[in-house]
Amino acid sequence: MRVPRGARWPGLRPAQPIGVFDSGVGGLTVLRALREAMPEERLLYLGDTARVPYGSKSREAVTRFSVEIGRFLEARGVKLLVVACNTASALALTALKAALKVPVVGVVQPAVRAAVRATRTGVIGLIGTEATVASGAYQKAAGRLSSRAKIVAQACPLLVPLVEEGWWTHAVTGRVAAVYLRPFRSSRRDVLILGCTHYPLLRPLLQRLSGPGVQLIDSGEETAREVEALLEADGLRRTGGRGGETFFVTDGPERFRLLAKRFLGRVSSPVRLVRFPS
Ligand code: DGL
Repeated sequence: MRVPRGARWPGLRPAQPIGVFDSGVGGLTVLRALREAMPEERLLYLGDTARVPYGSKSREAVTRFSVEIGRFLEARGVKLLVVACNTASALALTALKAALKVPVVGVVQPAVRAAVRATRTGVIGLIGTEATVASGAYQKAAGRLSSRAKIVAQACPLLVPLVEEGWWTHAVTGRVAAVYLRPFRSSRRDVLILGCTHYPLLRPLLQRLSGPGVQLIDSGEETAREVEALLEADGLRRTGGRGGETFFVTDGPERFRLLAKRFLGRVSSPVRLVRFPS
């Protein structure tokens, strides 16, 4: 049955902002994709810089942090929450959907959908944090979409600090990435999901190491497409006016601003400090 426009979320209006959250700065790659796809939307971004990284933490901790942040952004009037962090999407999406009244979109499902569509061999490579890979969330999502798709996964924990250091083209990063990608060589994977917020910044390197026959999937870009389609379908897309961003962090606004410049090129909007419980 077709759901009439706006009927699923009757209390929400197009003028409300979109909430985006991540464990830190990495989610800015997703924010950038959202901004490019929907320049007229207002975005509220929260980076949990006091508790980053999430990639080495337990499901219980990541879920607790995520729900706390989701509630914070919901209280600030967002019409939809984007879980930009792959780890939080993999571990806490179900809890977030149960805890919030607004629609919640994670990065796992859109990336897996694009990967399943793109693969010819049925073998999909995945790189992400330890927690993301161990969660099995990508594997489950692929299994739901296709009976023949198989995910081969590799945790790459050292890539996050190397990206934050700005060493995107450094020889050390090249060596580390080559070691991580080596086990994929023997598989027939023809698609590689960049299953962590930081990896799109290493795209040229990862493409070179994977070879021209492997298509890289950027979760951020796929998620932006999904968010746009969802807002459109529910009559919640803001069509006029100028968009913009407001940033919240749980620690070190100055350091966030510095790192954010590396990720976004410029950050003119204010960066506000919040503490939890808020
Ligand atoms: N944002 C995280 C992710 O996408 C990477 C950084 C972290 O471990 O918190 O999984």
